[in-house]
Amino acid sequence: MELNKPFNIKNGELFIDNYRILDIVSKYNTPLILYSADIIRDNYDNLYKNFKEYYKNFSIKYAVKANSNLAILSLLNKLGSGVDVSSIGEIYLAKSAGINYDKMLFSPNNIDINEFKYAIKNNIAINFDDINQFTMLKKFPDKISFRINPGIGKGEFKEITTGGRKSKFGINVDTAIDAYKLAKSKGIKHFGIHMMAGSNSLNNEYFISVADKFFDIAGIISKKAEITFDFIDIGGGFGIPYRENDKPLNINHISKNIIKNLKSKLNDYDLGNPELNIEPGRYIAGNSAIALGKIYNIKRYYDNFAGTDLNMDIFLRIPLYKAHHNIEIINKFNIEKNFKANIVGNICENTDKLGSNIYIPEPEINDIIAVYNAGAYVSSMGNNYNGRLKPLEVLYDNNNFYVIRKRDNLKDLAINMKIPDYLR
Ligand code: LLP
Repeated sequence: MELNKPFNIKNGELFIDNYRILDIVSKYNTPLILYSADIIRDNYDNLYKNFKEYYKNFSIKYAVKANSNLAILSLLNKLGSGVDVSSIGEIYLAKSAGINYDKMLFSPNNIDINEFKYAIKNNIAINFDDINQFTMLKKFPDKISFRINPGIGKGEFKEITTGGRKSKFGINVDTAIDAYKLAKSKGIKHFGIHMMAGSNSLNNEYFISVADKFFDIAGIISKKAEITFDFIDIGGGFGIPYRENDKPLNINHISKNIIKNLKSKLNDYDLGNPELNIEPGRYIAGNSAIALGKIYNIKRYYDNFAGTDLNMDIFLRIPLYKAHHNIEIINKFNIEKNFKANIVGNICENTDKLGSNIYIPEPEINDIIAVYNAGAYVSSMGNNYNGRLKPLEVLYDNNNFYVIRKRDNLKDLAINMKIPDYLR
């Protein structure tokens, strides 16, 4: 499976530009997540330029949940991105990275009133997941929207399908009409409308058809509730290839057709010229990083196991969804992959398997492995189970390497814990 530039393979060995990854690993040690700023820029540009070419009133709201490292948020801020934030914590992180409140859309679900108050105090636009959460409030930000569940959705796994009848998210169209009427009666003047129907789809036509259905929904709601929309947000979900045969999305085709349908529906329903928003997370950050780990042990008893320091604390999404990530030994690209092994971590769980029965070159202790597509939903979903320390993260940009997250130290594990006096 190919990595994007600046990652490259020379003489069977992995490099980033002209830097040997083996040298980087010697310097920083493992486990390590190594990001390329250029890949993030390219992914952002690819989405931005394609949509913007067909529709001027367009902006990207990067989904902070995919990767909330301050350096990555700052990089996106410099590119002009806004953000989708799902919690007070993500608001705090985005603000700490320099992103202004007016570039945020807050899409929480099932939260305490104080979390709403924090957003309202800072006039952050709120995207309500339900009408009940809206009725809890007396004050509002200038702009609000409701998250519509269009009744359909598609994600790579059922666990990451966020639209459709089995999904906990959003409201149906009839409820939305009442919700917007209610909001209008409370004096709110600026509205948006939002959906997010699933994550990691690689089906071009799906994005076009679900957006088209959503534009009809927006038109119907606008007519029935007698409101206009400042923005129409079609969410994220743009998938990336994780498997050898996965085909990347054709963003030009998707954007061209989404905008063609949008323009005709804006006309049909007299919707004016709302801003079109997308909320990509994975598409921007996913392929920007590799995770690097070391093989510490090899077992060949009942089955073959290569034991590494990359584990399910770092790659929770692998046991959680049975997600697939490509794995390579970084100095053996020229060697035939004839050894069938399970690549496992150092956690006391049998779900701690990064790769099940995959073919790799004959491994040796101290070999370095790279797990691909480690930029989205890896660091942000990481945890300290088994007392493991969250890994070091490094950003490569234009011949420089920057540590963007220190490795946890042992004290971090206990930092918020307290022993009551009577137990001392
Ligand atoms: N906007 C909203 C409101 C969302 O809930 C999500 C993701 C996104 C945008 C960004 O979706 P993306 O473009 O990254 O697909 N942990 C899972 C993914 C869960 C996505 C949940 N919502 C994984 O590891 O695959």
